[in-house]
Amino acid sequence: MELNKAIKNRRSIREYKTKLVTDESIDELVDSFSLAPTSCNLQLASLVLVNDKETLVLMKKHVTGKVDWTNQLFVLVVNNTINYGNSAQEISAGMAVQNLMLKAEELGIGTCPIAGFSGKSYLKKLLNVPVEFDIPLLIFFGYKKELPKNHLIVPYRADKQIILSKNKFNNFYFKSTNNLNKWTLDEILEYRKRIFSVYYPRFRHGLWRNSLNDEFKTFLINSINGDCLCYYFWESGFLNQLNDNIDLYVYDDFDEYTNFLKSKYDINISKKFDKSKKFDNIFLANTLEFCKNREDVFKDISLKLSTSGSAKLLFFNYWGIFAIFFRTLNLIGLTNSVYEKSPFYKIGPYGFIKYSEVKTYLKENNLEIVEKKFIRTNCLGDKFNNKIIRYLISMTNIIFPENIKLKIKLK
Ligand SMILES: Cc1cc2nc3c(=O)[nH]c(=O)nc-3n(C[C@H](O)[C@H](O)[C@H](O)COP(=O)(O)O)c2cc1C
Repeated sequence: MELNKAIKNRRSIREYKTKLVTDESIDELVDSFSLAPTSCNLQLASLVLVNDKETLVLMKKHVTGKVDWTNQLFVLVVNNTINYGNSAQEISAGMAVQNLMLKAEELGIGTCPIAGFSGKSYLKKLLNVPVEFDIPLLIFFGYKKELPKNHLIVPYRADKQIILSKNKFNNFYFKSTNNLNKWTLDEILEYRKRIFSVYYPRFRHGLWRNSLNDEFKTFLINSINGDCLCYYFWESGFLNQLNDNIDLYVYDDFDEYTNFLKSKYDINISKKFDKSKKFDNIFLANTLEFCKNREDVFKDISLKLSTSGSAKLLFFNYWGIFAIFFRTLNLIGLTNSVYEKSPFYKIGPYGFIKYSEVKTYLKENNLEIVEKKFIRTNCLGDKFNNKIIRYLISMTNIIFPENIKLKIKLK
């Protein structure tokens, strides 16, 4: 296979056939791994092949549930105790892995590098890896399953002008904070474009919770008929519950996302419909937090809402336990990276919104509140297994409810 073709066709594959890759092919993969350049030619990266059922089950339980995707994988082991600086050993290992993945592509074998796993010490013990060595990556591999029709074939890649700057660094970077206010709108959109291919196709973003389902159902699904416009709409659980009477229009800044939804569900894309179209139902649920141009959203709502229609907003209460918890983590520096393990990290920077801020936007746009309710969903409590902690959180939730829902109309 032509190198260019292998480079272009290689994708991270997350669904495999059960048939095992042959020993000969595995041998070829290891060959290509070994032929990569390494710092000082020390070759301090190695692979542990795991294809034994018992080990896979243990890895699934203690390392990552993703092991379910495959029945064979490599564990990358790097001896970085010998390190001449500049992350030379890790970079060497990365180059070797890329060689292996391109070779796999040539052989018709799919791969997926996996850094999202935990239980490293356990894994080292399980595989007899010396404690001082690192395991930076798992490499899943196998024969590719046929991809679903709506699978994104080529994930978004940044513009070459962002990648390559000439003589001086072009100063584009992602802020190492998930504080929405510190990001520009362009940066947020760029971030979402990149993260999109990883999270949206499988709808792995974590906002849709069972505890919210009933609220959504009574608040929205059971109360609308006909056309509904959804802003910044990211909830698959919701889409799955929609009935045929509802014709859903989705507005989002990000075309790739709305196009993806269109391919998956039969929905309309707002940018394409008549700007003067008015809606009896407008819905905005728990996504204002990720939205930088909030004023524009409210302006738009007032333009698109029919005189007899109503818009329903659901947002995390700035004074709710959920918001307080995450703002506290932020304050003490525990969630200062966009990749931190907050339930939001999957969709990037966010900022809790104050009720007073919403009221200002409503006033500016000739909108009024006709119904307001606090919702105690125990979103945060759901995250803990410990009964006592769950109880304490649910009690605190009474004083600091997590969500606010509003029904608004044109004045
Ligand atoms: C170091 C590294 C770690 C990764 N970890 C994960 C992971 O934990 N889970 C996952 O599904 N994909 C993971 N990936 C795959 C990336 O999501 C993927 O490369 C990216 O979205 C681009 O898609 P593509 O590989 O199909 O071009 C990882 C990739 C790299 C390079």
